[in-house]
Amino acid sequence: MTDLVTVTDDGPVRTIRMNRPEKKNALTMAMYDTMAEGIETAPAADIRCLLIGGAPTVFCAGNDIGDFLQAAMSGGALGVPILRFLKALARCEMPLVAAVQGNAVGVGTTMLMHCDHIVASTEAKFSTPFVSLGLVPEAASSLIAARLMGHARAFSLLVMGKPLNADEAKAAGLINVIAAPDTVEADAMKAARHISALPPQAVLASRRLMRGVLDEIVARVDEEAEEFKARLQSAEAQAAFTAFMTRKR
Ligand code: COA
Repeated sequence: MTDLVTVTDDGPVRTIRMNRPEKKNALTMAMYDTMAEGIETAPAADIRCLLIGGAPTVFCAGNDIGDFLQAAMSGGALGVPILRFLKALARCEMPLVAAVQGNAVGVGTTMLMHCDHIVASTEAKFSTPFVSLGLVPEAASSLIAARLMGHARAFSLLVMGKPLNADEAKAAGLINVIAAPDTVEADAMKAARHISALPPQAVLASRRLMRGVLDEIVARVDEEAEEFKARLQSAEAQAAFTAFMTRKR
């Protein structure tokens, strides 16, 4: 557990908020664990909708690159907490709403591909610089992104690393609503309350039908993790991590 992620229940809505703004909400292993736990324990707490949020200035700068560097140096794999979080997201039965302000980088963007309703600020920016870091996409984004936005746009985002602004993300089907920065959180909460007020069993059944068989998505998370592990140990990835961690500003 870590206080760098807060989990707060307000009636039927549980908010899972990344809270490490000084590091742009880069995710550590403890943060992944706390986020996974927030998702996994929601059904037993009578929660009907989950809301994922970040800070007013940044949603999430992706995985902590220092952790990547450490994993690379020690010949390690994608950490257990990362896979726990990604699978909790993939298997989550409950509707997921997200409120995005500022940058959503790497897993900050790919986690959104598992969400149902995303409210993003006019200033939001979505990017997945996996390949320029010598890595491959994760969170089953190599499968889901093309389904969402078609292969061409998915390739541009995931492989070429071209960011999407809020308008482009909406046109690509990644997000639902664009809001002014000062109303993003309230709009997302309003949507979460709306979903929570619907007949819960009908919501769950409808979402289950819409999402289809999840095994393929979970299998892709594992497949990507295998490739990711190999890439983490590559010279090109280690050079990219070191360049980020030692960059001069
Ligand atoms: N891992 C570790 N630390 C990170 C981080 C990450 N993914 N993203 C940001 N930080 C840290 C910076 O090192 C810096 O730390 P410092 O103040 O101790 O030097 C602090 O957060 C602030 O970041 P900074 O880059 O100064 O903020 P910015 O507003 O200029 O830029 C980003 C914000 C998100 C565009 C930029 O931080 C960035 O590109 N981060 C890396 C994103 C990334 O590649 N993630 C991995 C995806 S797979």
